[in-house]
Amino acid sequence: MTQRDASKKPGKEVQSTGLFHVIDPQVFQRPLLDELCDLATRVRAVAKRAEGARFLQNLLPTSRAMLYFTQPSTRTFLSFDNACHILGMSTSEIRNPATSSEVKGESFEDGIRTFSSYVDVIVMRTQEPGRAAQAAQLMDTIARPVPIINAGSGSDQHPTQALLDIYTLGRSFSDRGGIDGKIIGLMGDLKRGRTVRSLCYLMKNYSNVSLVFIAPKQFAMQSDVINHLKEHNIPFKETEKLNEVISDLDALYITRMQSEWDEVNESQAVDFTKFSVGPKELSLFKEKGIIMHPLPRGAEIDTTVDMDPRAMYWRQERNGMWMRVAVLLKIFQIEGQIQKLDL
Ligand code: CP
Repeated sequence: MTQRDASKKPGKEVQSTGLFHVIDPQVFQRPLLDELCDLATRVRAVAKRAEGARFLQNLLPTSRAMLYFTQPSTRTFLSFDNACHILGMSTSEIRNPATSSEVKGESFEDGIRTFSSYVDVIVMRTQEPGRAAQAAQLMDTIARPVPIINAGSGSDQHPTQALLDIYTLGRSFSDRGGIDGKIIGLMGDLKRGRTVRSLCYLMKNYSNVSLVFIAPKQFAMQSDVINHLKEHNIPFKETEKLNEVISDLDALYITRMQSEWDEVNESQAVDFTKFSVGPKELSLFKEKGIIMHPLPRGAEIDTTVDMDPRAMYWRQERNGMWMRVAVLLKIFQIEGQIQKLDL
């Protein structure tokens, strides 16, 4: 996220200071996180009634979004697309670079600049890390910059996923003091899991949270996140044995093996079945604990877990749509339209 540079000419609905680009989770502070979560909750309440849904659709009817998703996505793409439509925005998309002028040799920068000629916000997912940051830097040099939202950059960051994860954690623990004081387990391929990496960067905003990393040694959390946790005095421990820690956890956030990043089939060398959850593991888990997963899943969550009230991942993915509406409301500086409603 960057604060808007007031000296730049804004896109037509983006007029003053506030949330503009959303690139990295590191810069989010607690007041903004709380505001976004509150906005998401308010929007979902408004949208429940036909009259409310029509009100939302009239908030940004003349604004346009570009969804540039050249790396595969189901839920991030669909939740952003639907978030835009909830607010009355129109969307255009590139999902396959083979259908764009990239195949004629157009540079990434020229492509982004071209999108910005037609739309008011660009949401982008790329195979390479750093592309969203590169696009945001470019925007800051042109006459009509539009906000860039990072919807997943390589194996590096996925900031809006981290926002929806915070929203899900906060809602799940709303009757137990929220996220503060909770013990959160993060399991799976932590080295290449951009969702868990981004979520860890938000943890500095919560008091007395401790983290437990459960991962094969080859796929342990990377040093940049570890150093960040140390810098912010966030306690954590690392283990390969879920059964030794599961009963301590308030939340268990599971990720799949991210084999799409394999260079030499290194995923195959690991027994990933040890990093999965089924009925046996559930029997050791707290009665009011929650199971999260950014999805898609592999075999690391047995489908029988879906029926357990502690399984939060399907709600988590729907929360993503509401959180992305909240992010758009903030970017376009119309959050007051929702906040002033007497719900
Ligand atoms: N959680 C997530 O990013 O899912 P998709 O890859 O389907 O967008």
